[in-house]
Amino acid sequence: MDIFLDKALQKGVDVAPLGQVATYIPELAKGSVSDVGFALMDLDGHMYTRGQAEKNFTLQSITKVITLLLALEDLGKEKVFTHVHMEPTGDPFNSIMSFEVKNPEKPFNPMINAGAMVVTSLIKGETKEEKIRRILEFSGKLMGKEEVRFDQEVYLSEKETGHRNRSLAYFMKSTGIMKGDVEDILDLYFMQCSILGNCVDIACIGAVLASNGIHPITKERVVKKEHARIVKTIMTTCGMYDASGEFAVACGIPAKSGVGGGVLGAVPGRYGVGVFGPALDKKGNSIAGIEMLISLSKDLDFTIF
Ligand code: DON
Repeated sequence: MDIFLDKALQKGVDVAPLGQVATYIPELAKGSVSDVGFALMDLDGHMYTRGQAEKNFTLQSITKVITLLLALEDLGKEKVFTHVHMEPTGDPFNSIMSFEVKNPEKPFNPMINAGAMVVTSLIKGETKEEKIRRILEFSGKLMGKEEVRFDQEVYLSEKETGHRNRSLAYFMKSTGIMKGDVEDILDLYFMQCSILGNCVDIACIGAVLASNGIHPITKERVVKKEHARIVKTIMTTCGMYDASGEFAVACGIPAKSGVGGGVLGAVPGRYGVGVFGPALDKKGNSIAGIEMLISLSKDLDFTIF
């Protein structure tokens, strides 16, 4: 096992300089290309780590998995999927064009920004403060942590510069898909994207999914089996955006990336995986993260196909 883990890390380190950190959220530009690491958690909670596995980063789009699970637990699948489809787009995560031209009545899936914002708007809570408190508490349950918080600087940075998300949200308000106060929902979405975690934390979320909703350490049920199944399926078809097909062929596991450089993976019945490397490829996925996942998949036979 050790030799495969060392090899995967080395592959990640080698490709990291070929990517670029995200700059469209100014605070993310501070990420370091040379930070590379991963964690693997088996379903008894044993952890295997390499490199910068405990360095915190903002989870960004990985939180779309968290909020989709919470919305499903809050409202059930019938209600959630009356507001968002579950179809892949083949488009970038923040695309406006495909949404407006192809499918204006509701967003394609909960993993693109439009769909994720609608899902976030559904989360139970009287106020924005109550909703973010519930999202943070639920994140803690999935990660097996007492306290989860979001990074104030990254949140403010995205709030200031998130014009694309603002236009998507107001477009959805104009068509009636987005209910409630648009600025509050955007604010909540920006807070959610700035949630801090590390490879160990996301490996733990992956392990919950891999074990059909049971926490690997506490052995408590955190989410319904069916909700874990739905989310893993949507991660497989949509989790890596317009690279989801290629990633499914190369690695073959449900995964979700974030522009902070993290990727969450679930190897059903076996492991949760968290990989990290802030340098991204052209499609906004961690270049080292993908390389390490593919290497681990080959050597440890991850693929579900
Ligand atoms: O909405 C955004 O643009 C970011 N907060 C999150 C995007 C993201 O992580 C896309 N993932 N690869």
